[in-house]
Amino acid sequence: MLAQERSYNTAELQALDRKHHFHPFTDHKEMNKKGTRVIAGAENVYIYDTDGNKYLDAMSGLWCVNIGYGRTELAEVAKLQMEQLPYYNSFFQTAQLPAIELAEMLAEVTPPQFNRVFFGCSGSDGNDTVVRLVRYYWQLQGQENRNIIISRHNAYHGSTLAGASLGGMQAMHAQGGMPIPNIEHIEQPYHYREGGGLSKHDFGIKAAQALEERILKVGADRVAAFIGEPIQGAGGVIVPPASYWPEIQRICKKYDILLVADEVICGFGRTGNWFGSETFGIEADIMTMAKGLSSGYQPIGAVMIADRVAELLDEKGEEFSHGYTYSGHPVACAVALKNLQIMRDERIIENARAETMDYLQNQIRSLSDHALIGEIRGIGFLGAIELVANKETRDTFDDKGSAGIACRDACSENGLIMRAVGDTMILCPPLVITRPQIDEMVSKIRQSLDTAERTLV
Ligand SMILES: Cc1ncc(COP(=O)(O)O)c(C=O)c1O
Repeated sequence: MLAQERSYNTAELQALDRKHHFHPFTDHKEMNKKGTRVIAGAENVYIYDTDGNKYLDAMSGLWCVNIGYGRTELAEVAKLQMEQLPYYNSFFQTAQLPAIELAEMLAEVTPPQFNRVFFGCSGSDGNDTVVRLVRYYWQLQGQENRNIIISRHNAYHGSTLAGASLGGMQAMHAQGGMPIPNIEHIEQPYHYREGGGLSKHDFGIKAAQALEERILKVGADRVAAFIGEPIQGAGGVIVPPASYWPEIQRICKKYDILLVADEVICGFGRTGNWFGSETFGIEADIMTMAKGLSSGYQPIGAVMIADRVAELLDEKGEEFSHGYTYSGHPVACAVALKNLQIMRDERIIENARAETMDYLQNQIRSLSDHALIGEIRGIGFLGAIELVANKETRDTFDDKGSAGIACRDACSENGLIMRAVGDTMILCPPLVITRPQIDEMVSKIRQSLDTAERTLV
């Protein structure tokens, strides 16, 4: 039942929330000034709050509702699975049907080198698994010291200790003694702010060669893996130059370093292909996945393991001392499987690529004449609008982040959910968004930019 068909006492809910709920990634003082926005229902690309306000959700929740809200088939599958087998684990030589079927389906839709999967509950715990797995892989080959993982500044790989350590978010490292040992960070391929006057091509090569420099600095025999998001999402939708990933790939091959693609955002159609790795021609050894895997309908994550890694684990490995109670949870797997079947059978990715992908990218670029916009970038169903005080000098407003907040708040006033990463506005709509809905979204963005501009000068 949608919000507008049911009555809620929002003030009461907000009071209870304030009293009892400690939120992730939330400044509680700020939130409590205005009261939590309580979401009550959703349909297609829209969400509804408890006051009946309707918002176009240009963020797909948290970058995850790829097939859109309200697919009742997923609810039906969850109900059936709960009735038949609500829970059983995958430890100790046991399995159940949905986990087996989902594993088979993942082998079908992922690039050909992937035929094995380890299940978890989220992207963060998936990246914890990655740390364990790549270190174990080298240990099995008698190379215990090969335990350094190289990542990038401003990367996001989750919020567990290992995930946040792999990530390059300073604010996260500052709270709680991260990064954990043997994680290194190199520069990110962020041409607009860090290009230093180089062409995109040359900057892409230079940013990638930072990997080789770091490998040589720490010693090639110490480096287990490199991890990167094909496009950095939470860092501000940083789209790397076309030259970047081929050079990273070359360096990983040269030093025999495992290449881990964190596909948590880029996977399942986000960049116009099933995986961001396909869009950028990355041949990864390991892929972390979550979010679009179930379109957010159930918490589930997965780590795909390429044959060359899996074969070694099979051949030399003993018991892999790692796993979660909910690894391969039957209800989550059944829902994820149905989500992928819908994506495949309805050709959601192929249709979106043919019908709306270029349209979306062109329409957001039509905003570039706006005085607040420094750069618009994006690929597929990902976009970023970077706000500046001065288009020529690229200077930000003195109070960094204020333009992003002003624009984000104006968006929600105008019935549009966008996220601000500093002064960059992020777009990540469901893949099922239509052309008229894209027009609605872009017109609301322009309206919100106008409002933000008035409050900022
Ligand atoms: C690239 C990437 N990796 C990992 C994560 C962590 O996923 P989760 O929030 O499901 O733990 C995220 C979340 O946004 C992400 O964007």
